[in-house]
Amino acid sequence: MQIELNEEQLLLRDTVRRFAAEVVAPRAKEIDESGEFPREFFARAAELGLAGVAVPEEHGGAGMDIVSYCLVIEEISRVCASSGVILSVNNSLVCDPILAYGTAEQKREFLVPLASGEKIGCFALTEPGAGSDAAALRTTARRDGDDYVLDGSKVFITNGLAADVAIVFASVDLSRGHKGITAFLVPTDSPGLSRGGHQYKLGVQASGTTELYFESLRVPARFRLGDEGQGFRIAMATLDGGRIGIAAQAVGIAQGAFEEARKYARERQQFGQAISEFQTIQFYLADMAVEIDAARLLTWRAAWKKQQGGRYSLEAAQAKLFASEAAQHVTNQALQIHGGYGYTREYNVERFFRDARITEIYEGTSEIQKLVIADQILRA
Ligand code: CAA
Repeated sequence: MQIELNEEQLLLRDTVRRFAAEVVAPRAKEIDESGEFPREFFARAAELGLAGVAVPEEHGGAGMDIVSYCLVIEEISRVCASSGVILSVNNSLVCDPILAYGTAEQKREFLVPLASGEKIGCFALTEPGAGSDAAALRTTARRDGDDYVLDGSKVFITNGLAADVAIVFASVDLSRGHKGITAFLVPTDSPGLSRGGHQYKLGVQASGTTELYFESLRVPARFRLGDEGQGFRIAMATLDGGRIGIAAQAVGIAQGAFEEARKYARERQQFGQAISEFQTIQFYLADMAVEIDAARLLTWRAAWKKQQGGRYSLEAAQAKLFASEAAQHVTNQALQIHGGYGYTREYNVERFFRDARITEIYEGTSEIQKLVIADQILRA
């Protein structure tokens, strides 16, 4: 495994960093306050190939590797975590499973517009009674001629307010537990699908999180993704990739907060000197830098492992667990370095602090990551 980025990756990182500074950062505070879904950001990101970073060009994507995908999510999240997760969901939770399990027709009809950013997608797994216990979902899919008829509801769906396509997980037979779960590609303008309103949250305010409701929603059988009963495995394997994206998002949030804290520490004068002259602040910054680097390396390692093919659940869970907890510590310390000003909305650091928190929850809580890690290491 090569740890240094290659020329293509460095060029991509610099291009995305510039795009983030010029296009994403100026609106980050505003969309955090208004909760407005940044459609224009998604369209402009898509022009750069960021809607389907690792999707082959023949399917509408940019044809890059998974480490490149991590660089994209980190750089965007470094200035705006909402924008970071919007891209992450479209890339890894929506494009990836269609690429892996879709038929040629599904790739043409769904993947090409999603990976090119003409459309945006969401991943509809979680339900009011099925969060960590994803297999307990109650949404049903009943076969009726050439269609399935879906009934049920989903909660906490990132991109839900804006999505044109939802990957919906529903059971064809509740008595079969996870073996009944089946995945469907559902255009969100289908009759029988409705959405909730904007969900006000602690952070990532602009991620379009909402509920989805299905009432006698007819989905053509040709839109079934994979086989009947394969949906739970599709969801789990997809989440392995998603967790790498969230790890990269956490690294980006931590890096953004670290940079704000370093700048502030150099500028802020107390007791007759810049606070960066105090060893306590230097130790804080040193610890933060080490945690961020360790999180980034675990994230790149997981990305590299995914690129090799085969299962990478262990590496993805390790990266997500460590990076999300690092983001929590680093944003907390960054706020502490800012003192009273850090607690105000005048500085970005309070937003980073709020945004970091969700990375320990979505796409599997830290506790779920530990279950996955324990399961994998006890199998070895
Ligand atoms: N890849 C492939 N197959 C997998 C797998 C993986 N990573 N993980 C499990 N499986 C398979 C198992 O091999 C097993 O297969 P068999 O039936 O053939 O034996 C089957 O799936 C069931 O596995 P488990 O018995 O381990 O399943 P479980 O019910 O005990 O659940 C769990 C395991 C790890 C707790 C899982 O439910 C889980 O990950 N929960 C968290 C859910 C989650 O992450 N939700 C995120 C929602 S999306 C989101 O958050 C998006 C957003 O907002 C940004």
